[in-house]
Amino acid sequence: MASTKKTFLGEGRASSPLAAEGKSKSELLAGLEHWRANSESDKGKFPLSSGFYSSEEFLTMEVENIFHKEWQCVGHVSELKKPGDYLTFELVGHPIMVVRDRSDELRAFSNVCRHRSARLLDGSGNTKLLVCPYHAWTYELNGKLRGAPFMKPAQVKDICLNDLRLEVWQGLVFVNLDQNAEPLAPRLESLQEEVGPFNLAGMDVVHSYDDEVDCNWKVLVENFCESYHVFRVHKTTLEPDTPTASVEVMPGGPGYNHHTMRCVTAAATNEKENKEHLSCIYPSLTFAIRTASVIWLSIQPLQYNRLRFRAWVARDLNAGRATESEVKTDMELVAAFMAEDKIINTGVQKGLECGVGNRGPLNEMEKTNWQFGQYVASKLLG
Ligand code: FES
Ligand SMILES: [Fe+2]
Repeated sequence: MASTKKTFLGEGRASSPLAAEGKSKSELLAGLEHWRANSESDKGKFPLSSGFYSSEEFLTMEVENIFHKEWQCVGHVSELKKPGDYLTFELVGHPIMVVRDRSDELRAFSNVCRHRSARLLDGSGNTKLLVCPYHAWTYELNGKLRGAPFMKPAQVKDICLNDLRLEVWQGLVFVNLDQNAEPLAPRLESLQEEVGPFNLAGMDVVHSYDDEVDCNWKVLVENFCESYHVFRVHKTTLEPDTPTASVEVMPGGPGYNHHTMRCVTAAATNEKENKEHLSCIYPSLTFAIRTASVIWLSIQPLQYNRLRFRAWVARDLNAGRATESEVKTDMELVAAFMAEDKIINTGVQKGLECGVGNRGPLNEMEKTNWQFGQYVASKLLG
């Protein structure tokens, strides 16, 4: 009988009787080692095996080895322009906030009061001080406790919010739960050469939203790593402007994969402007950038078969190229292609969970999925 499991990320859903539930950590790691050793043959490259998408135990290992250690995108500098601007996010169950302080520094903190753990901020906005909604302990924008009602000053001296590592790359704000993490930028140097000219840092977020999907986090990441499915799934929404036949897979690197597509309608003045660049910065940021606009997603696992993502649309407003109708078109396009992807991806998850067998080989255009699989294996196996 299907069981409902309590998981570290919240209440679990009923799991499939055929899922890889019940496999021990060592069995899963041995399976992953086997996949890595056999992921290429004369038939081509193969995607990760289905068991790695249908196991809470495997997700626990991914959370420990990937999501607790890697840089994850939580926003964009245009959302945090003035002192007091803040945004909130949840990194595998850890509520965080990013605030611009009075000295114009961006700071990341756990969004958790040091008194008795209440959540300090919700959503996004601007604030002069960080005031806890529970007993009104009040923090400066730099995280220092400024006052605590009915407490003796000596009792609360030197209390600060829990500081987190923050790095901005190309205007994207990343946070890392690991205080000893290596910086992000060096592993993205060659990607920066490709996408730097698009001036992502100078764009403005014009739309963002959160949503959840009933599939493993890797299913949605892989969906964005490849554009092989565009001609079929997005026949009327994306294919006319970015045809599948134009996909070119770039070499990628240890921290990311990367492919390009030709933009049919781009008013291009040169070959570079003619292209859309699609990349996954591991583990779970996927973006598509072209002249004057970018769309990206930051994906977080909730359970082995459910994820949450935040999607952003940003545009180059300085160039005067973002009319209201263009922004509306962007938003409608995201809603349309996400709805198409969601149907496919929830179906993929069911297929993976029922254990009917393996997948592949991959098309050349899906080499990026194989690269992503290698990344996951390297994080879990070393
Ligand atoms: S939990 Fe924040 S003031 Fe009590
Ligand atoms: Fe898609």
